[in-house]
Amino acid sequence: MDSSPKNSENHRLKTRIKFLEKGAGDLQSCLAALRANEEKYRQFFETDSDAIIIFDADSLAIEDFNAAACQVFGYSVSEFLSLSFEKVCVFKEQTLSEMIREINRGEKEKKILRNHFMRKDRSIFPGAFFPGSFKSESGKKLFAAIRDISEKLKIEEQLKKSQEQLFQAQKMEALGTLVAGVAHEINNPINLVMYNIPLIKHIWHDFKPVMEANEEKHPNLKYGGLTYDFINDNLDQLIDDIDMAAKRVETIVRRLKDFSKKSSIQVKSDISINEAVENALRLAQSTIKKSKVVVNSVLCEKIPTIKGHLQSIEQVVLNLVVNAIEAIDHDHGEILIRTAFLKSEKVIIIQVQDNGKGMGNQTLEKIFDPFFTQKQADGGTGLGLSVSYSLIQSHAGEIICRSKPGKGAEFEIRLPMEPEQKSVKVLIVDDDSAIRKLLSRALKQEGNYVVKMSSNGTKALIKLGTYLPDLLILDLFMPQMNGLEVCQSIIMEKKLEKMKVVIITGRPDSPKIEEIKKIGFINVFSKPLDINQFVKDVGNMFFKDGI
Ligand SMILES: Nc1ncnc2c1ncn2[C@@H]1O[C@H](COP(=O)(O)OP(=O)(O)OP(=O)(O)O)[C@@H](O)[C@H]1O
Ligand SMILES: [Mg+2]
Repeated sequence: MDSSPKNSENHRLKTRIKFLEKGAGDLQSCLAALRANEEKYRQFFETDSDAIIIFDADSLAIEDFNAAACQVFGYSVSEFLSLSFEKVCVFKEQTLSEMIREINRGEKEKKILRNHFMRKDRSIFPGAFFPGSFKSESGKKLFAAIRDISEKLKIEEQLKKSQEQLFQAQKMEALGTLVAGVAHEINNPINLVMYNIPLIKHIWHDFKPVMEANEEKHPNLKYGGLTYDFINDNLDQLIDDIDMAAKRVETIVRRLKDFSKKSSIQVKSDISINEAVENALRLAQSTIKKSKVVVNSVLCEKIPTIKGHLQSIEQVVLNLVVNAIEAIDHDHGEILIRTAFLKSEKVIIIQVQDNGKGMGNQTLEKIFDPFFTQKQADGGTGLGLSVSYSLIQSHAGEIICRSKPGKGAEFEIRLPMEPEQKSVKVLIVDDDSAIRKLLSRALKQEGNYVVKMSSNGTKALIKLGTYLPDLLILDLFMPQMNGLEVCQSIIMEKKLEKMKVVIITGRPDSPKIEEIKKIGFINVFSKPLDINQFVKDVGNMFFKDGI
């Protein structure tokens, strides 16, 4: 064995080289792992749907950002790199330095904050962002992962609005039931009072001379503890007061009935909203004349008619106009009534605007409640707006009010047009041509049906494959293929899943009917058909919500 110093030096060098080689290999795999890791996080960063912006904690210069940031803010890569974070963040709720101080203190690092941000085109959007910080070789960096929440806020707002509407509708529904009961209970007694007052008046009229004569004979006689003089001077007035009070109760009962009858207004015809407004203004003429208020109207000419109840809409507009007049407590009163048609939404708008004393939020919350009034002293019943609310509801519409104290009020009614009814495709299958024709004629007369016919089950099956009707009217007993067999053939047919099937038969007791019902076809009508009732029943299958 050679143990010279030269050899041992060689050995040492070899071991060293081996060690270095291994180290270099380790370093390389480390670098590769690091690169893979960096690539992974880059990908996370780049593919994140939130806009992530990294900026220097001192200069606020933007140093890095992902693709979503370019998309959300509309800047190119080079434009972004020349910006400071201040340029994209609009600090409404909090100043930038406040936010940075909080991030630096680490207080809010784990919290999601809300703020407003500005795009390149200077449009501003609300955003939720997650802020944070980290240390790098070139100093402390901050970052924000920003999400545009305008849609979310809009949905939240809509949800809040519909919850409020639902709450109001439920409240009105409950009140409607209660009020209907009360109105019903008061109705008979008050009618009795009203009926008897003229009778009492007459009796008093006839009795007066008798009393007068009696007074001469018995000057100190009292009636119910009252002297003749007192009665003579006051009884007419007392009866008139009772009459007036009874009439007021009767008015309240009538309005209560109006309030609760919303679902019973079913006689609806094609009405013109402008005509309703004009009629209401005519009815309000005497009140308008007595006031110093100027009433203007701008009525949109191109408003289509809607299915509705003319007097109800008149009554609502009249209520709003009278309220507006009553809310004006100065000499420059103006009321503006506008109508409009929002074609895209298929909604008709009526607005009544005044420059009266307006209302605060506390009042606004209650105005549609029955009996809420600030005009007790002047005989207000507090039913005008609640009745209006329920009348508009019976038209599937809504009524809202915008107002601020001292800034007038604006009431807006939105009435939806009826959705156009789609036509129903029908296939009538019967071997009796007279029945086919009769049914076809009756359905076509309704205007909403497109009808085809077949004389037997086999022909019907062929047609069904391509025609895909909404309704199949099927006779049970037919040559070649009967109604039951047709049903058995179509039951698994996916394309016909939504088709409604009506069986018509002269033999409702046949066992086939049992079988047909067992496999799920339950609409069975017996011949001879009451054709009007039949058309009505079929109509209910498709147009249940129609007026
Ligand atoms: N245009 C308006 N400006 C300011 N306040 C209004 C306006 N319209 C209604 N209000 C407020 O809403 C309340 C309720 O109105 P509503 O029509 O239901 O009853 P009323 O007018 O008080 O009584 P009635 O209709 O029986 O005469 C009013 O008392 C008033 O306080
Ligand atoms: Mg009123």
